[in-house]
Amino acid sequence: MNKEEPKPRLSRESLQEALRIFEFIRPYRYQFVFGLVLLFLSSSIFMVFPYLIGKMLDVAQGVVVDFDLKRMGVWLVAILAVQGVISYLRVMMFATVSERGTADVRKALYQRLIALPIVFFEKSRVGELVSRLTNDVEKLYNTLYFILAEFIRQVIVLIGGVALLTWMAPKLAGVMLATFPVIVIGALIFGRWVRKLSKKRQDILGETNTVLDETLQTIHAVKAFTNESFERMRYGRANDQVVGVSMRYARGRAVFAVFIITMLFGALFFVIGFGMHLVQTGRMTAGELITFVTYTAIIGGAIAGLGNFYTELVGAVGATERVREILRSPTEFEERPQTNHAAGRLTGNIRFENVHFSYPTRPDVEVLKGVSLTIPSGKKVALVGQSGAGKSTIMQLLLQFHRLSAGDIRIDGTSIYEYGLESYRSNFAIVPQEVILFGGTIRENILYGKPNASEAEIIEAARKANALDFINRFPDGFDTIVGERGIKLSGGQRQRIAIARAILRDPAILLLDEATSSLDAESERVVQEALNNLMEGRTSIIIAHRLATVREVDCIYVLEGGQIVEQGTHDGLSAIQNGVYSSLAKLQFDKVDIAPKMEA
Ligand SMILES: Nc1ncnc2c1ncn2[C@@H]1O[C@H](COP(=O)(O)OP(=O)(O)OP(=O)(O)O)[C@@H](O)[C@H]1O
Ligand SMILES: [Mg+2]
Repeated sequence: MNKEEPKPRLSRESLQEALRIFEFIRPYRYQFVFGLVLLFLSSSIFMVFPYLIGKMLDVAQGVVVDFDLKRMGVWLVAILAVQGVISYLRVMMFATVSERGTADVRKALYQRLIALPIVFFEKSRVGELVSRLTNDVEKLYNTLYFILAEFIRQVIVLIGGVALLTWMAPKLAGVMLATFPVIVIGALIFGRWVRKLSKKRQDILGETNTVLDETLQTIHAVKAFTNESFERMRYGRANDQVVGVSMRYARGRAVFAVFIITMLFGALFFVIGFGMHLVQTGRMTAGELITFVTYTAIIGGAIAGLGNFYTELVGAVGATERVREILRSPTEFEERPQTNHAAGRLTGNIRFENVHFSYPTRPDVEVLKGVSLTIPSGKKVALVGQSGAGKSTIMQLLLQFHRLSAGDIRIDGTSIYEYGLESYRSNFAIVPQEVILFGGTIRENILYGKPNASEAEIIEAARKANALDFINRFPDGFDTIVGERGIKLSGGQRQRIAIARAILRDPAILLLDEATSSLDAESERVVQEALNNLMEGRTSIIIAHRLATVREVDCIYVLEGGQIVEQGTHDGLSAIQNGVYSSLAKLQFDKVDIAPKMEA
């Protein structure tokens, strides 16, 4: 499941780095400091209770006479009331700081994330990024909210408690300190071992869920390949493993329970026993013993809490590092010189000058090897060639998703890297090879081309994209929810929505990557018409495998292995004997010729 994460460690650098996350608290620093003060107060008041209870017992027994029980009752009620107010305020203060602070972190992270260059997303996995936004930020939240508060409280309790006990009964305190904390720490280590087993059990259980997930999601394939018994065995094996680990976990828990009962309570009884002896010999009152034992229990809890604190802290530092790593990565915009000027509306005179390119994730494979091409403003140009030749790559480079290794791309005479990125990209619309829609409605998806478009414009765009008919056939029309990534629509329907989006955008340069590939012959004809209208007066680059769709273009560039091997019009290229294009065309158009005969 998860890939092996390096074991987090605390170093001075990582701690310093982690502390910088407190920058996000700066706007709420007053609440934060106020919260800390309240925390200090409430922890201190808390320490008074065991003392008062012991005193009351002594008063009730008549051992101590300088205290009035009634007066003490009043005191107790007053302290309780103050404690209540303080606790309420403290929780609210810390909640304000942590809720607002983590929301700020989340927003900053998201804002940074979507501005990062494409290569960042090709190098990291989406699941991992989502986890940074959710789990890691949640860890920070916990740190800011609970862990920090608990830590401070426990330190106060520990120091205050031990000081009080030593002052009250130095001898008994010595006995207690020699036994109790040692055993609490032992229990902690033991407990961690049991927790590890529990985590292992969770992991293995997770693996069984993977089997379950996989098979249920691909149930069609499971049944079609009659692999039910295979999957049953796979699931069965995974479950048997769970039982194995579970039993080890159970044994660990059982031994742990025995340990706690004998050692921890044993130590406590020992301290109490020793205290009893002191009471018996008149060196301590019963009330003092009660106070003492209560403090001992509280101190034990504090030690246990501090033990867990380290684990939590390491986790939080790791989370902070991962979050800050994103916050530190330069965005697409920061990578560009500040002198860039806004592109305005380009006319779309495109020139590729000896462009060399390798994807950053695969630097040793050169995808484009010296591509030069010219697309005059307002003309239609097609890129054809085998799968993997580099056609879609050319479009990605035009959109500045990646940097060139060598060469230059110029539009309207200026290197595209000298334009402001946002204004530059706003000149483009793309109908991509694989249309992935957002989870909302059809209307929202079309509006993505131009967020402020009017209803009439949306309908007109849908009509031009030949999408209006099928949209109107849905009971909810434009308000139909397209499902996650658009899965509730067919490939052809998705494509027409993407075309409507492009129409609405009204770009200077249009990029069509197999824009009609998922359409049936009739729809393709109508959409082709729509595209023809759309392409009028714009520079258009069309990628198509079906050559019939590019017959009419002004120039066809034939790509092979990252180089342009032929260029010209359909007629010109078809005439070349044994040319790449002419042989492709021969293959395809011969097939087309056969098709009607077969239908007849
Ligand atoms: N994000 C990427 N990272 C690394 N290599 C990639 C990436 N995208 C594409 N490639 C590689 O670059 C080469 C060209 O890919 P490209 O997508 O441009 O081909 P194409 O001509 O559009 O093919 P098709 O007709 O199948 O769409 C391929 O060898 C491909 O494996
Ligand atoms: Mg492609």
